[in-house]
Amino acid sequence: MKRLASLLVMSIFLLSLGKAKAQQTNDAKMKVFIDALMKKMTLEEKIGQLNLPGSGDIVTGQAKSSDIGRKIREGKVGGLFNIKSVAKIKDVQRVAVEESRLKIPLIFGMDVIHGYETVFPIPLGLSCSWDMEAVKRSAQIAAKESSADGICWTFSPMVDICRDPRWGRIAEGVGEDPYLGYRISKAMVQGYQGDLSRNDNIMSCVKHYALYGAAEAGRDYNTTDMSYPRMFNDYMLPYKGGVEAGAGSVMASFNDVNGIPATANKFLMTDVLRKQWGFKGFVVTDYTGINEMVAHGMGDLKQVSALALKAGIDMDMVGEGFLTTLQQSLKEGKITTQDIDKACRLILEAKYKLGLFDNPYKYCDENRAKTEVYSAANRAEARKIAADCFVLLKNQNNVLPLQKKGTIALIGPLADNKENMPGTWAVAARFDQAISVLQGLKETVGNKVNILHARGSNLDADSLFEERAGMFGKSLHRDSRPASELIAEAVNIANQSDVVVATLGESAEMTGESSSRSNLDIPEAQKELLKALLKTGKPVVLVLFTGRPLTIKWENDNVPAILNVWFGGSEAGYAISDVLFGDVNPSGKLTTTWPQNVGQIPLYYAHKTTGRPLGTWFEKFRSNYLDVSNDPVYPFGYGLSYTQFSYSDVKLSASTLKGNQTLTASVTVTNKGNTTGKEVVQLYIRDVVGANTRPVKELKGFEKTELKPGESKPITFTITPADLKYYHTDMTYDWESGEFEIMIGGNSRDVKMAKVNWNK
Ligand code: BGC
Repeated sequence: MKRLASLLVMSIFLLSLGKAKAQQTNDAKMKVFIDALMKKMTLEEKIGQLNLPGSGDIVTGQAKSSDIGRKIREGKVGGLFNIKSVAKIKDVQRVAVEESRLKIPLIFGMDVIHGYETVFPIPLGLSCSWDMEAVKRSAQIAAKESSADGICWTFSPMVDICRDPRWGRIAEGVGEDPYLGYRISKAMVQGYQGDLSRNDNIMSCVKHYALYGAAEAGRDYNTTDMSYPRMFNDYMLPYKGGVEAGAGSVMASFNDVNGIPATANKFLMTDVLRKQWGFKGFVVTDYTGINEMVAHGMGDLKQVSALALKAGIDMDMVGEGFLTTLQQSLKEGKITTQDIDKACRLILEAKYKLGLFDNPYKYCDENRAKTEVYSAANRAEARKIAADCFVLLKNQNNVLPLQKKGTIALIGPLADNKENMPGTWAVAARFDQAISVLQGLKETVGNKVNILHARGSNLDADSLFEERAGMFGKSLHRDSRPASELIAEAVNIANQSDVVVATLGESAEMTGESSSRSNLDIPEAQKELLKALLKTGKPVVLVLFTGRPLTIKWENDNVPAILNVWFGGSEAGYAISDVLFGDVNPSGKLTTTWPQNVGQIPLYYAHKTTGRPLGTWFEKFRSNYLDVSNDPVYPFGYGLSYTQFSYSDVKLSASTLKGNQTLTASVTVTNKGNTTGKEVVQLYIRDVVGANTRPVKELKGFEKTELKPGESKPITFTITPADLKYYHTDMTYDWESGEFEIMIGGNSRDVKMAKVNWNK
């Protein structure tokens, strides 16, 4: 047995040695190839590689590049983004490799953020699955589909930690926790990239580096200013995770970070990303990120372009500041040829690693596009994953699951709206084929359940708000009838039904980029409808669409059942039906704290105690509010199931430890109900006494496990001193001796705790 084990260790060692050797040989070959190519390149052609215009196919910002064909012929384009279809991509690539002097292929990027044509739940929803295999699979499928359609590079994962749900882009991220974000970031990068020598994987881009999710007041593109310990303890880990997983590129964020826009921030782009983390890929700006530094007040376009290059930016998205000013800056000595060479080399390396020099049409196989995009198998996977992301927030008297009989009143402005289902950042979605809630219900249970439907209200009473929220393409189909008439119609069908399913909340366009909100309530018109439905006395299930934590204290107090379905993607309508009728037992858990009101923001579980912590609200001269307690409506990690789980006490392998020893912490989790269910078991640690003040708890591990009725399972976590380290105010990264609380539970609030003394 021992010999077998050592043989195994030996062969793993030899295998990794072999891999490392092969990598070295590849790197050497790549260097020879690129050295030779760069010798032939003019300065203009080198700068051309740093230019990334948008195709105009899918516009996500304001600017478009003109006359792209000519520029490609002149070697002034390194890649194109948001161009869709093999035919178009092939055409453009042909110009690059046949009609430009050096025949350098282009890279084609796209915002493949939560799926391609098959759309998965918005990333915030996906994070609530806590299922890293599912997260990875969604990225693999997105890579498979987009690469079949000619794309070789995605601007994902977006891993900005956010603790302010006013920010619309919280929908695109990984939630509030750095450790969970780190795990998700790794899983996504692995899912997209896998083995890049294949033609069904694509290069990823970790974004938006850095701190974009900390925009002041939750207003998009706004300033961030933060201490280094907070930055590195709470915000940086997810970006680092993506880099560790081998992400081929990183995107600079729009925002100002401690006084210097990220796009010109040498500390971020060079000192941390390259020198500390060893990042080997290239850095692209966000959309016109360089040009926007003029408005930031950093100088004219020539000045800010030079600043960006000097800081460590390699590719300029859309704005063409590099293309139009770098030659002049070189003449003036503001930048060096080495600066340009370094950026150019990194972009050529990316093309080399993607295999585009060997075959520029590697991703242009029409047959793949026909069979692999939006396939039945991919859609089935999207349905399954969506159902696992929904979070059951309340289920009084087991209103859910619904019975497959009787009459249901399906009500709400979001019930019969296909366009709304895929959610923000679904640029390649087939909106006309997405499954609405009405369609999902009809097709899954329509033969057993009588489904009545009424709109009930518009999205919001304020039509101007609706117009702003729906500006970018998708109409919200406003009903011109007076609110009272819409409500009366809905109440009428509610009265004829056994149960009311009210699909309310945000529209997809109220979430995502440039969709910050200062009021996080369900819009008033919908709330009025909900109140009228509750008055009928029928059991009401609120199916909540949202891209962010909403302030739904009133709803939590008054509505018997609430199922949060985020925006679940192409198959969401089916997935919603699967969960409502109990074919799938919900298992999603929140990855953000849900505040009672906007005034509590930022509200997050890993807060510090302060010198005057609150016992119970209200106490004078304690850290609290006069008008609201410090509690959230739902804590981080929270989510119900159709079954119930119980936790044993936490058992530790030791109560005192020394140095680099390892601690194991275990609980036994039992399914006490009658339904098989999945539980996300969460490990939190508190450093009771530190050299710096420490959070009340921090997530350090989790495991999602399925349990049959009555089944018990031991769940064990291994903890080492690495889990206790943190960045101190002097930026040393270490831990210190003392007492630690080890907590395990089904959410961040309800945990069992045991103490350990750990000394260096
Ligand atoms: C967004 C990025 C996106 C880019 C390209 C920008 O507005 O901030 O997340 O990748 O557009 O579409």
